[in-house]
Amino acid sequence: MSQSSDTQVPLLEFAGVHAHYGAVEALKAVNVHISAGEIVSLIGANGAGKTTLLSSIFGAPRASSGKILHRGEDISHMPTSRISRRGIALVPEGRQIYQEMSVEENMMMGTTPIGMAHFEEDRNTMFELFPRLKERRNQTAGTMSGGEQQMLAIARAMMARPELILFDEPSLGLAPLIVKRVFEVLREIAAMGKTIFLVEQNANHALKLSQRAYVMVNGRIHLSGDSAALLDNQDVRKAYLGLH
Ligand SMILES: Nc1ncnc2c1ncn2[C@@H]1O[C@H](COP(=O)(O)OP(=O)(O)O)[C@@H](O)[C@H]1O
Ligand SMILES: [Mg+2]
Repeated sequence: MSQSSDTQVPLLEFAGVHAHYGAVEALKAVNVHISAGEIVSLIGANGAGKTTLLSSIFGAPRASSGKILHRGEDISHMPTSRISRRGIALVPEGRQIYQEMSVEENMMMGTTPIGMAHFEEDRNTMFELFPRLKERRNQTAGTMSGGEQQMLAIARAMMARPELILFDEPSLGLAPLIVKRVFEVLREIAAMGKTIFLVEQNANHALKLSQRAYVMVNGRIHLSGDSAALLDNQDVRKAYLGLH
């Protein structure tokens, strides 16, 4: 086999994935694939199952049937700690930074999957990307603004040197100017060679950033396609994107 056939294996793939919370089926036959270098978004209303889809990559909940494949290998039964050492990092919904720790300590926590060997170098790279975090490196993280905490959550994920970064509603609850900055940062991170899977309710911003997108309704992938085409489709805009 040639090398080029390797590159056709998606970096991450959901193949017919179902997942449950008790009797409630939160993911229904989900098929999603993300290739290295892509920016892919997943759009859906509150309660659609977006966070569940991201958490299922790390096994919470586990897929009850179907497979989650990373580089073609089934990771759906793998221990969570091993999955996070495969170069996949999550920027969780609601930031979930360590409120009582300083900015720099939060960034240290991000190195957990790879260890501290590159800490200073990577911290300095993040301080270039986020000058505000450098200014506030010794500040207690919980005292910062929502936008600053979001930047810290992104920096923390980057400290694990991930190849694939999952963003769970990074714009949620932020003022429009900060939302704009968050999406600029995502673009810069993509330019650093990272693959991005972006979950958003903010369809407009997400579709402008991504190349391809999936629309989730009630635990199912309802639509998928080129982001620009979805954004141009009047019926899709009204029915699924909350746009006019
Ligand atoms: N820990 C949980 N236990 C039980 N049900 C849950 C849990 N987390 C989410 N759900 C349910 O699963 C569905 C999908 O939720 P979620 O993945 O959080 O949606 P989204 O991120 O799109 O808002 C919702 O009906 C929600 O109530
Ligand atoms: Mg969610």
